[in-house]
Amino acid sequence: MSAVVNESPATEMKDRSAYSPGLEGVIAGESVLCLVDEGEAGLLYRGYPIRDLAEHSTFEEVAYLLLFGHLPSQQELSDFSTRLIDQAVLPQLVQVFLGAAPSGAHPMDIVRSGVSLLGVVDSDPTDHSHEANVCRSIRLLAQIPLMIATSYRLVTGKPRRQPHGDLTFAENLLYLFTDRREDDRAKAMARVLDASLTLYAEHEFNASTFAARVTASTMTDLYSAVTSAIGALKGPLHGGANEAVAEMFVDIGSCERAEAWVREALTKKRRIMGFGHRVLKKGDSRSAIIQQHVESLSGICGNRRWYEIAMTIERIMEQEKGLYPNLDFYTAVAYLLMEIPLTLYTPLFVCSRVAGWCAHVIEQQDHNRLMRPRALYTGPSRREYVPLDRRT
Ligand SMILES: CC(C)(COP(=O)(O)OP(=O)(O)OC[C@H]1O[C@@H](n2cnc3c(N)ncnc32)[C@H](O)[C@@H]1OP(=O)(O)O)[C@@H](O)C(=O)NCCC(=O)NCCS
Repeated sequence: MSAVVNESPATEMKDRSAYSPGLEGVIAGESVLCLVDEGEAGLLYRGYPIRDLAEHSTFEEVAYLLLFGHLPSQQELSDFSTRLIDQAVLPQLVQVFLGAAPSGAHPMDIVRSGVSLLGVVDSDPTDHSHEANVCRSIRLLAQIPLMIATSYRLVTGKPRRQPHGDLTFAENLLYLFTDRREDDRAKAMARVLDASLTLYAEHEFNASTFAARVTASTMTDLYSAVTSAIGALKGPLHGGANEAVAEMFVDIGSCERAEAWVREALTKKRRIMGFGHRVLKKGDSRSAIIQQHVESLSGICGNRRWYEIAMTIERIMEQEKGLYPNLDFYTAVAYLLMEIPLTLYTPLFVCSRVAGWCAHVIEQQDHNRLMRPRALYTGPSRREYVPLDRRT
C-alpha cells in the first residue's frame, strides 16, 4: 500500500468545462464530406441531399462522389464500375484465412481480420499519397463484399460466386448473399438494397469513422484505419444495431405480440434497438426514406408481418419514450424481407460505409494533424512511492 499525500479529489485539467462525456457536441475536426443537420439543410453528402441520391443515383455513384468529390459522368461511372468488377479478386492469403476460420466465427470478425490481411499483401502500404489511397479504397470496395460472401458461402456449403459486370453493385451483393438476381422481385429488392447502401455510406464523425480518423491521424496505413473502423462498427450501439433489431423482430414473431413485448422490455429498462441517436434527437431523415421503400417492398413480397411489427414498435416508442427510429430500424426490416441471413446485416453496412471511411482517411491524411485529446484526471493526488520491500 502506498500513502496518499493529499486525499482531496485531484484534477490536473484547468478547464473542466471543456469536458463532454462521450464527446457529445464536441467538434473534433473539419470535413467537406457530409453535413448532418436536424434542421432545414438535412443530410448532405458533399452538398447533395440524401433523398436525391437515394432516389436517383446508384450506390456506385455515391461511392464515387465520396472518393472523387464530384458525381461521375457516364464514362467515369462505367470505368469505376469496371474497376470494381476487375478488382473483385481475393489474394491467396485471404482465401487461406477464409478456409481456416472457425465456422462459427461472426462475419464481422472475419471481415475485420480479412481487411487487416489485405494490408499484409499490399506491396507498399506506407505510400500515403492521395492517389494510392484512392486506389486502395476502390480495392476495398470491390474485395470486402466478396470476402464476406465467400466466407458465408464456405461455411454454409454453397458454391462460390463472382460478381457480374452486367449487374449493379447492389444487384451483385444480393446475388452474392442470396443467389437472387433474375426475377422482378429480385430487382425490387436490389433497388431497396441500393438505397440502403446509399443511406449507410457516410455520416460524418460517427464512432467508426472517428476511430478510422484517429488511426489515420498517426499516418499509419489505410487498412489499419479501416480495421479500427470495422471493430467500432461491430458494437450494438453502432452498426451492430441492425442485426440486433432483426433478432428482436424474430423474437417478437407477430404483430399481435409486439406491443406487449416492447412494453415489457421498457418496464425492464431495456434499450430497444434501432431507436435513438446521439445527434438526431428529433428523428433520422434516413429512416423515413428507407421506411417508404420497406412499405412498398412488403407489398411486392406479399409479406407485411415485419412492417406491421415495426409500425407498432415505432408508435409505442414515440408515445412512451419520445424516441424515433434510426436508419438501422427499417433497414433491418428491408433485409428481413430479402431473407438475408441476420449475421450479414452489419457486414452489409461495412460494404457501404467503407466508402465513407476511406474518404475520411484520405481527407485526414491529405491535411493531417495527429489526434491527441486530453483526459480529465480523476485518480488520486500525488502519492509517496513505497519500495517493494516496505509495502504491506
Ligand atoms: C444510439 C444511442 C447509443 C444514443 O445514445 P445517447 O445519445 O448516448 O443517449 P443516452 O444513452 O444518454 O440515452 C438518453 C436516454 O434515452 C434512453 N434511450 C436512448 N436510446 C434508447 C433506446 N433505444 N431504447 C430505450 N431507451 C433509450 C436512455 O435509456 C436514456 O434514458 P434515461 O435518461 O432515462 O437514462 C442510444 O439511443 C441507443 O442505445 N440506441 C439503441 C442502439 C441503436 O439503435 N444504435 C444505432 C444508432 S444509429
